[in-house]
Amino acid sequence: MDDRFNTMAGWVLAAGIVALGGSIVAGEVFHSERPEKMGYPIEGVVEEGEGGGEAEKPIAFYLASADAAQGEQVFKKCAACHNADNGGANALGPNLWGVLGEPVGKGKGFAFSEALASKGGTWNWDNMSAWLKSPKSFAPGTKMTFAGLSKPEDRAAILLYLNQQSSSPQPVPAAPAEAAAPAEGEAAAAENAAEATSNGAQKAEDEPVLNNPAADPKGNGEAAPQD
Ligand code: HEC
Repeated sequence: MDDRFNTMAGWVLAAGIVALGGSIVAGEVFHSERPEKMGYPIEGVVEEGEGGGEAEKPIAFYLASADAAQGEQVFKKCAACHNADNGGANALGPNLWGVLGEPVGKGKGFAFSEALASKGGTWNWDNMSAWLKSPKSFAPGTKMTFAGLSKPEDRAAILLYLNQQSSSPQPVPAAPAEAAAPAEGEAAAAENAAEATSNGAQKAEDEPVLNNPAADPKGNGEAAPQD
């Protein structure tokens, strides 16, 4: 009897130790710091912010409803390092007069970083929008320590403003036609509809024409004359 009691006690003790050990391990594993970002990433869903943002339309789309005056307000975020005045001095960043249409990372005698200077091409609506969205993704290693403007509306407004700060403003692109893709579908639908009508027409032809036998044979509405 004593032996059995000891065995049972032993098992209970062992179970306790296992449970305790388990909870310590679990605590280590699961009780870690709260993650900075809560929730789970879902495949196919792009996270908001940090250069991500939801699927964006081309900048021309936002330019159509942008306002240069609002862009001047947004430009205050840049004013610590830039001015866009005609003949304005370079500061922490280069002077931005007439920058749209200028070679990327070359103008105004500014000491550009290799990252931007080696980019090539000229500034246009699209690459300038990409640059301002995230300078460090556009030109990794750039000296422009500015996080970026995540809102396409802000970028469009500032682009319009910058374009005005120029002796040769660039033409503003037209808003892209949104119906480019559905056009094909529409054509197909129209074809189907045409087919449907021609089928219908054929059906109508096949059907017997119904005459009304009770109609007045003479068509004058008069009864036959009587003597
Ligand atoms: C903290 C300072 C700083 C801020 C804020 C800043 N920039 Fe810059 N910017 C720079 C520097 C420095 C460069 C040169 C980058 C290089 O050489 O890599 C630059 C380069 C540029 C260029 C390229 C010019 C050229 O001739 O190729 C443009 C355009 C520009 N900035 C626009 C802006 C706009 C618009 C904003 C505000 C939304 C802004 N920057 C905010 C410092 C800044």
